[in-house]
Amino acid sequence: MLSINKLTIAVKDKIIIKDFSYLFEKGKIYAIMGPNGSGKSTLALALAGHPVYQIKSGKITLNNQYIQDLSPDKRSKAGLFLSFQSPLVLNGVSLFQMMRVALRGKISPIDLNNKIKHLSKELVIKEELVKRPLNEGASGGERKKLELLQGLILQPKVMIFDEIDTGVDVDSLKIIAKVMKKYQKNRTYIVITHYNRIFQYFKPDKVLILSKGVLKQTGGWELAQQIENTGYEKNSGK
Ligand SMILES: Nc1ncnc2c1ncn2[C@@H]1O[C@H](COP(=O)(O)OP(=O)(O)OP(=O)(O)O)[C@@H](O)[C@H]1O
Ligand SMILES: [Mg+2]
Repeated sequence: MLSINKLTIAVKDKIIIKDFSYLFEKGKIYAIMGPNGSGKSTLALALAGHPVYQIKSGKITLNNQYIQDLSPDKRSKAGLFLSFQSPLVLNGVSLFQMMRVALRGKISPIDLNNKIKHLSKELVIKEELVKRPLNEGASGGERKKLELLQGLILQPKVMIFDEIDTGVDVDSLKIIAKVMKKYQKNRTYIVITHYNRIFQYFKPDKVLILSKGVLKQTGGWELAQQIENTGYEKNSGK
């Protein structure tokens, strides 16, 4: 489980997330929603260890291991994975090479290759796309599928998906969601999203609403539906 206790995050000394506390349990699905600029990606990037997002105070533990002083690769090794909102191109490095380094010889090149092939098939990713330098010339939707593929190869305990459903067509969304559902068992999913549509395929156990860097509301799946119907303003209780 991922435990976050009174986390305050700043960018260039400006506080973005204030006193965020939450316990994400093993095997459960969480949705994080909130208006643009409310700090969802900031929270995700700080959890993953992005150096720009400074942790001013608070504590992050993953399965009782204190992780916030670890480098991003060590956090990944500890079982945390972040699928980026805007995945970047990695010049000259293929997905295979990247995964080889990330897995540090944990599986053989042949097994890794087979795993990539199998998951690409499930995610309907063209073979040629997988062979290119990572994300080079890849469309927005293709990048999201490649993010999921990488995450599943690493076999993390906690997967944070930052808008995996944004910029993705209806057919691709269905494919992504079905693969996410298939591999969710015993994993914690934190799904940052603006929309309900991905929840046609799997339901979140809890929905968290971030507003101006503060965890404003939590609720069940119906909260995500309410937000979609009435927006954030009407839901704030004001
Ligand atoms: N690297 C950065 N430098 C300066 N400001 C930043 C940086 N990253 C985030 N911010 C600021 O922090 C605030 C929260 O941004 P963040 O990207 O976390 O929002 P978000 O909730 O993910 O929004 P969206 O729904 O649009 O993705 C914004 O005001 C943003 O401009
Ligand atoms: Mg964001």
